[in-house]
Amino acid sequence: MAASSSSSLSLLFLFLSLLVVAAQANFVLHGFEVDVCGRNLTCEGVAVIRDKMLKLTNRSNDVIGSSFYKIPFPMLDTQKKVSSFSTSFVFSIVPSTSEPGGFGLAFTIAPKTSFSEAESGHFLGLFNSANNGVSSNHIFAVEFDTVDGSGQGESDKEGNEVGVNINGLTSTFFKPAGYFNEHAQMVNFSMEESDAVQAWIDYDGGSQILNVTIAPYQLGKPSEPLISNFTNLTGVLNETMYVGFSASTGEAKASSHYILGWSFSMNGPARSLDISKLPDPPSKEKDPSSFPWVKVAIGFLSSLTLILLFSTCFLTLYKRYKSHFETLEDWELDCPHRFKYRDLHTATKGFKQSELIGSGGFGAVYKGVLPTTGTEVAVKKIFRSPIHGMREFAAEIESLGRLRHKNLINLQGWSPELTRTGKASTSSDVYAYGVLLLEVATGRRPIGGGTSQFFLVDWVVENQNLGQILEVVDPKLNSVYDEEEVELVLKLGLLCAQHNADSRPTMRQVTRYLNFDDPLPEIGGWRRNSDSESSRMSFGFLEIVSTSSISTSQNLSSCISMNNSKTIEAGR
Ligand SMILES: *[C@@H]1O[C@H](CO)[C@@H](O)[C@H](O)[C@H]1NC(C)=O
Ligand SMILES: *[C@@H]1O[C@H](CO)[C@@H](O)[C@H](O)[C@H]1NC(C)=O
Ligand SMILES: *[C@@H]1O[C@H](CO)[C@@H](O)[C@H](O)[C@H]1NC(C)=O
Ligand SMILES: *[C@@H]1O[C@H](CO)[C@@H](O)[C@H](O)[C@H]1NC(C)=O
Ligand SMILES: *[C@@H]1O[C@H](CO)[C@@H](O)[C@H](O)[C@H]1NC(C)=O
Ligand SMILES: *[C@@H]1O[C@H](CO)[C@@H](O)[C@H](O)[C@H]1NC(C)=O
Ligand SMILES: *[C@@H]1O[C@H](CO)[C@@H](O)[C@H](O)[C@H]1NC(C)=O
Repeated sequence: MAASSSSSLSLLFLFLSLLVVAAQANFVLHGFEVDVCGRNLTCEGVAVIRDKMLKLTNRSNDVIGSSFYKIPFPMLDTQKKVSSFSTSFVFSIVPSTSEPGGFGLAFTIAPKTSFSEAESGHFLGLFNSANNGVSSNHIFAVEFDTVDGSGQGESDKEGNEVGVNINGLTSTFFKPAGYFNEHAQMVNFSMEESDAVQAWIDYDGGSQILNVTIAPYQLGKPSEPLISNFTNLTGVLNETMYVGFSASTGEAKASSHYILGWSFSMNGPARSLDISKLPDPPSKEKDPSSFPWVKVAIGFLSSLTLILLFSTCFLTLYKRYKSHFETLEDWELDCPHRFKYRDLHTATKGFKQSELIGSGGFGAVYKGVLPTTGTEVAVKKIFRSPIHGMREFAAEIESLGRLRHKNLINLQGWSPELTRTGKASTSSDVYAYGVLLLEVATGRRPIGGGTSQFFLVDWVVENQNLGQILEVVDPKLNSVYDEEEVELVLKLGLLCAQHNADSRPTMRQVTRYLNFDDPLPEIGGWRRNSDSESSRMSFGFLEIVSTSSISTSQNLSSCISMNNSKTIEAGR
């Protein structure tokens, strides 16, 4: 009585513990989080998690990757009979070569998770030439093979096959990849070309029947298995075994193998995978390095064409950009003092408003310091005005550059932009210079303020015509001056400020007059040129000087002191 109750109790206990084991012995993985390697799975060799997929191998030659569920499963029941198991998974094979082929992957049940002694290539990352086929391996594998006649006793295989392997490479039996459709007809398909393949492996421990079923992954499980065969796993599977995947690549047969999702169960069907929860299969784009040489050549040529096109465009734009700033004209070649716009820009702090010392109708003058020499300069920036003769301007610049006189500001250089826009006129500078002379000698601004409509040139002309030109001399000079010199300056001013541009002297001539080398021509009846637009437009240069704060520039003596100050013309 007591004995029977104790035995039934132990039976109940055994039953309960079996239930607990059975309940624990299943899992589902829809995609793979990055930390699943190490936490739930072993990841050996090149196996990694990529884009939520378990990537067993990459496209490198001769690499091995394997991944096993970390917790082993009891494969034998209390009577040492092999237990039932069931698994389902979705995999994708991305070949690298344009020719089909590449070693497959294998669902594996093994006593260990690491196969460091395994060889790459067709050894599935599980075996080597020494232990291939040895019963002490205790390895059961279902191989999804894509390689064509992989040798080593497998010459009967044609690739794109599903095989069942026990302890070695030689499949106990195999079938070409395919599935039975709803009309019970076999449909062949390429596992490599499918985006992804779903596989079901069901083993019934009682009948020792192994079923293997595959289908393109969106189709669902076909009603009939591809393989259904008696498979004696007694003596193959030990008490506790690890379940997982293994793959390897070989020489020039390098495929990437991915697992997208995995479900496993002991003693009962594996839970179905929800396809919608799986990551997207990897892109099947071919490795560019494996493209036929024609495609590579075409790619190379088209990129070369593109590069050439871009370079040409760039060079053209760059040249245009450069010429925008720096164009060396023929006439400039003789004249060494050509300033780069960039330097003038720097010298004047970018033509900053605070550096402005004067402005007028056709130009503005900025105070500046030449970055190269540290020389203090006045830079004239010429506004746009009607085009005048380029040659005249060049000639004028040339003669101005040669001018050396104590009463004259030295011309240090000029206006590359001006040569481009061609907007300034040489004679307008002579005009401006003339008005400058008048302004310096009279101490008056070129245009009077208020309603009086005072025009300096006209005023001097009137006094000249009345024979009283010295009446206009700056009263601040207190009559302390050389009358001959002042008269020369005033008359020369008028000569330069003539309305008719052609009658104005050249600057070369101006120096000769100033040095008393040539007598001033006698000009009877100076004409007023008030109200003419050009007269007002051309007052720019002297306004600059009159408003400039360079010492006491309101009189002639200050003009002499300005000898040290230099003028540079820039244009825009
Ligand atoms: C993975 O491991 C974690 C931590 O050990 C556990 O909580 C989780 O249930 C495991 N997941 C699976 C599918 O085994
Ligand atoms: C494959 O993986 C290994 C190890 O992570 C790496 O060294 C190798 O560069 C990878 N090859 C390719 C083609 O990605
Ligand atoms: C499937 O492929 C195998 C081998 O490639 C061939 O023998 C068989 O006839 C094919 N079946 C169908 C239905 O195409
Ligand atoms: C294996 O397939 C056969 C034939 O379809 C079926 O009768 C049997 O139940 C299957 N076994 C398992 C374990 O799925
Ligand atoms: C099952 O496999 C054995 C070899 O293990 C083979 O001889 C037999 O033909 C197979 N049966 C079927 C139905 O495939
Ligand atoms: C299965 O294999 C074991 C060990 O090799 C053997 O003892 C047993 O008789 C086999 N079972 C069948 C049904 O062939
Ligand atoms: C498998 O089990 C047998 C006895 O059941 C034992 O001798 C052998 O060492 C085991 N093999 C492995 C790899 O665990």
